[in-house]
Amino acid sequence: MTEALIHYNRVARTLHWTIGTLVIVNLVLGILHDPLGELFPAMPIHKSIGFLVLALSLGRLAWRLTHPAPPLPDTMPGWEKAAAHGLHWIFYALMIAMPLTGWIFSSAGKYPLSFFFLFDIPKLAVEKGSPIVAGAHSAHVVLGFLWAALLVGHVGAALRHHFILRDGVLTRMWRSAPEA
Ligand code: HEM
Ligand code: HEM
Repeated sequence: MTEALIHYNRVARTLHWTIGTLVIVNLVLGILHDPLGELFPAMPIHKSIGFLVLALSLGRLAWRLTHPAPPLPDTMPGWEKAAAHGLHWIFYALMIAMPLTGWIFSSAGKYPLSFFFLFDIPKLAVEKGSPIVAGAHSAHVVLGFLWAALLVGHVGAALRHHFILRDGVLTRMWRSAPEA
């Protein structure tokens, strides 16, 4: 195996940390939208960040499907590798499902959907009060809290790899491999 294979490539790393930061900001804005909305337009910003996450995640998914992830260390037991891969694919699904469910139920709302107050995003053709709108709203709330919980596990696993196992799994998502 070459050194270059061991670390994630620059595109994957940049997209991971950009989307990761935006998602964490959006979980906070979503959960605390009532108090934060008193201070600044939290909801329009939440929706704009969500649309940005959707666009970046479609690009990230396309990149991932054409550039396989480097293999996990052989020191990890099979079940841990399977759990890590499973959680990563759940995260990819959430990166698409959260913005999409938000877009669906907000299309039935009275507010226009702007992208950082620059231009409007078209509303989807859904009926206010329809089962798809209600289902998308419930899914958005439930998946939002599920994602926050799973994120604690993801960050905990990353810190365990870095500080306890010291196997370079966090470093390979952080920077390029050192020159051989
Ligand atoms: C909401 C925020 C985040 C999301 C959506 C997210 C998502 C993901 C996904 C989908 C992968 C799999 C990459 C792939 O194989 O294509 C991944 C890997 C990784 N993430 Fe995150 N992540 C987030 C936050 C974080 C944070 C805060 C940390 C560190 C403290 C972190 C550390 C890592 C590491 C070390 C890997 C590489 C695991 C490996 O080598 O297989 N992530 N993340
Ligand atoms: C990364 C993408 C997104 C994440 C992680 C996210 C997360 C969340 C979370 C955790 C909540 C709080 C749920 C609650 O406590 O009621 C929320 C609420 C909300 N989100 Fe999102 N969201 C995202 C994208 C979007 C998008 C794209 C839209 C609309 C275009 C949107 C519209 C809303 C609205 C209107 C609420 C308030 C719902 C209510 O008051 O019941 N979200 N979001």
